[in-house]
Amino acid sequence: MKVLVIGSGGREHALVWKIAQSKKVKKIFCAPGNPGMILGSDLKKSQGLTPVIENIPIQVRELDKLLQFAKKEKIDLTVVGQENPLISGIADLFVRHNLPVIGPTRKAARIEGSKVFAKKLMEKYGIPTAKFEVFDDYNKAIRYAKKLKYPQVVKADGQCLGKGVAVCDNYTQAEIFLKKLLKEKTFGAAGEKVIIEECLQGQEISYMVATDGYNFVSLLPSQDHKRVFDNDCGPNTGGMGAYAPVPFVNKELIKVIEDTIVRPTLKAMRKEGNLYEGILYPGLILTKEGPKVLEYNCRFGDPETQPLMRLLKTDIIDIFEAIINKSLKNLKVEWHKGFAVCVVLTAKGYPGEYEKGKEICRLKQFGESDKVRVFQAGTERIEGKTVGSGGRILGVTASGVSLKEAIHNTYESIGENGIHFSGMHYRKDIGMKGLMND
Ligand code: AMP
Ligand code: GLY
Repeated sequence: MKVLVIGSGGREHALVWKIAQSKKVKKIFCAPGNPGMILGSDLKKSQGLTPVIENIPIQVRELDKLLQFAKKEKIDLTVVGQENPLISGIADLFVRHNLPVIGPTRKAARIEGSKVFAKKLMEKYGIPTAKFEVFDDYNKAIRYAKKLKYPQVVKADGQCLGKGVAVCDNYTQAEIFLKKLLKEKTFGAAGEKVIIEECLQGQEISYMVATDGYNFVSLLPSQDHKRVFDNDCGPNTGGMGAYAPVPFVNKELIKVIEDTIVRPTLKAMRKEGNLYEGILYPGLILTKEGPKVLEYNCRFGDPETQPLMRLLKTDIIDIFEAIINKSLKNLKVEWHKGFAVCVVLTAKGYPGEYEKGKEICRLKQFGESDKVRVFQAGTERIEGKTVGSGGRILGVTASGVSLKEAIHNTYESIGENGIHFSGMHYRKDIGMKGLMND
């Protein structure tokens, strides 16, 4: 079978790596992909081995070009890594042309595309989430914000490149952010509606399920590390590292999450006429009163997918086919024992302005052993060298029988004597929350 993966980050590299292990797959195309995904492909091709992996120069927003390509190549399955094409309706487009796709329709992807849509859905169907109010009028929002006890969280309704959420410690911070959204319109239409919600306290976890809209299978719970510096300090990023499974999420808690969040969300989406198919990823905070939804994502998490793919034993194509054929009920997903950790290596300056073009050293030596697997994100090949081209450059991923061992195995291959590049930054505490709260 021929598979098309849409995206170019560490998440998509991890998906491609796992898909390539399926005996059912002969060819994988990545749009636009990254250099890590196609390593060794020329050699494989020359030896007549499959699957051959190829990058194609089509960007994730070029929906018509992606469709024409998929039709021409007769793609059997398309996996959409990124949220933007889903929110723009790529699944609808592909289904209309009888091209099987993993990802929800445009209407269903609003669960990530519009935070107001998601909050109203949760309110209507009693799905636990932070208490909130919605505003589109600056003066009304300010009047309400003045009366509140802080901290509070102010959120733009739409997609703002990760800059649409402000955790405000006092009224002044809330006022500044509300002004930015509702008066100065810094984020345009995405900030025309805002949510002001209570600030939840507790551990934040990522919970992903694969679903056909009716049945679902849970993937292992994982934990991202969003702030740029150790001990969760500094600004938010796209994710500085992740590990799975989370030791303090036990079977009882998984049952509570499935019963009070996952199942009710899928049912609510069906009732509203938005059948949800694909990967649903609620970000949760484990509060004293139980797990509550921070937000929903309509796709796999990044970097969480990197440790998850290392641990997944089941052929991922079996999961994708079960989503498409609506046979998830009969599917048993198996995982390797132990834990996996991913540490993200970023360019100097990230998440602000960052350096580009630094050569990555010892990538081959440390990045392709059985123990360590490097998933590339912001990289490019220039004159035979792999150099950094994005903020998040690599995800170094290793597993171990214990979380402690997985952490050790990952960090062992990073630094002066391992994988490194000039200006490299990474957090030194990935996975520690799992050890401390177990
Ligand atoms: P979001 O884009 O909604 O995931 O928000 C970005 C980050 O802000 C989350 O990953 C949380 O760490 C934090 N956050 C968002 N909403 C809340 C909330 N209600 N309480 C506490 N933290 C929050
Ligand atoms: N791990 C954060 C995200 O994928 O949105």
